[in-house]
Amino acid sequence: MLTAFTISPKAVAAALAFVLLGGLQASADLTSAEARGRSAYFGEKGSALDDATARIGTLTTKLPASSLPCASCHGRTGLGKAERGVQPSQITRDALTRPYTVKEATGRKRPPYTLTSFRNAVRTGKDAGGNDLSEAMPRFNLTDKQLADLWAFLAVVGEVTDPGITDTAITIGVVADPRHPATRSQLKVLDALAADINAIGGAHGRKLKFEGLAPSAAAAAASTYFALIAPQGAAPAGLDPDLPVVSLLPSETPSAGGFALVASEADQVAALRRYAVEAFEVVSLRDACAAKKGDTVLLASTGCLVNARPARRVLMTHSVFSSLPPASRASLPAETYIAIAAPLGRIDPQAQAAFAGTRAKAGGDKSAILSEADAYSAAAVLVESLMRAGRDISRVGFVEKLEGLRDFSGAMTPALSFGPNRHVGSRGAEIVRYDPAKGTLATSGTWVEPETR
Ligand code: HEC
Repeated sequence: MLTAFTISPKAVAAALAFVLLGGLQASADLTSAEARGRSAYFGEKGSALDDATARIGTLTTKLPASSLPCASCHGRTGLGKAERGVQPSQITRDALTRPYTVKEATGRKRPPYTLTSFRNAVRTGKDAGGNDLSEAMPRFNLTDKQLADLWAFLAVVGEVTDPGITDTAITIGVVADPRHPATRSQLKVLDALAADINAIGGAHGRKLKFEGLAPSAAAAAASTYFALIAPQGAAPAGLDPDLPVVSLLPSETPSAGGFALVASEADQVAALRRYAVEAFEVVSLRDACAAKKGDTVLLASTGCLVNARPARRVLMTHSVFSSLPPASRASLPAETYIAIAAPLGRIDPQAQAAFAGTRAKAGGDKSAILSEADAYSAAAVLVESLMRAGRDISRVGFVEKLEGLRDFSGAMTPALSFGPNRHVGSRGAEIVRYDPAKGTLATSGTWVEPETR
């Protein structure tokens, strides 16, 4: 059966991006044939793919084979990853040489492969039983020796580990802007947390290490780190979609590996709007810049604070509130409401105590406490999932554990729940009243969740 398949520039770009980003852990003790095969499998510079060409389907033009490394379709470990309705076969040596007839998902049946029929399949697209492989499998003009190298590597491809992991350590990148005032304190808190975990054996025998990296360097770092945390906001754009990332806020483009702790700024604004309807029957919140006497308004940025004075009520998110100069807050109307995604009253007391302990060791900086809590929270989610994933860990297995977290209360946030279709752990916000005369926030408010769509 032929699957229609046209090669899109996007697919080539994705394959190329893989080559650029997806370097791998130099795994020790490969034979020289296996090592050459590995280079070709991943399309590394200097590999057999450099001088070879590949042909896809009815395209008569030959493409550089280096733009179509085996791993880009068959996965890092040879298990194949389904994409755009195409299912690349499992090509570990075990899978190819099972001593019985294998029936593929497409209905194609084939006997076990030998080196000879393997070479034939990769060159001509005929499987071990002489059936045509789908056009999605490119035809490569590789030599006998190059294909023998690949065949050798496929015997050990399943043992390839993800980046950032060795037998003794696991390294996590911390995306943090060097100019952000809290970056240093965040990294200190993370170091203290790692020291505590390593003192009791680390993550299943591997020492946990956090390393700061600038947002601009994050995309290239996918090949160095097992996973990232991004505690200062959303994850930076341009990351490998399979790279696990736990960020404070959701990014605009959801990805397989991307997880966020709390609701985005936009969702917090939505919670404020909902609250205005329910509490004051105000259907549309006016922009604070155009406030008139008696209005209920949304302060979207600090710039319109002066215009908001005649309003009866002002609503804003906590991030806008915290960017208002403290002296100016006294001019807010008596009815001021603030959306807080991680209100103290909803944070588990044990998590608060653990955070306080870690901060004390790190020598926490008072002015950075909220940012430190964000870093601690992202790390807590990551560590919990690492512990659940066990010693035999891969990025894929780790993402499954992240998706399995329910009502996790170890972070400085409300309880977090994730799932395959839910990558934002806490989706609501508490609407809390602020008293401008006293400069205090009420201790509790109303929890508002977004509409379930
Ligand atoms: C653009 C995606 C893509 C690339 C790149 C690719 N393959 Fe495949 N390959 C496939 C798909 C899809 C199939 C399944 C075809 C089918 O079921 O008809 C396949 C099937 C195979 C098979 C046949 C297994 C079976 O089920 O009979 C072998 C062997 C194979 N690939 C080896 C390789 C090797 C070695 C490389 C690198 C030199 C490679 N492939 C690169 C997509 C790809």
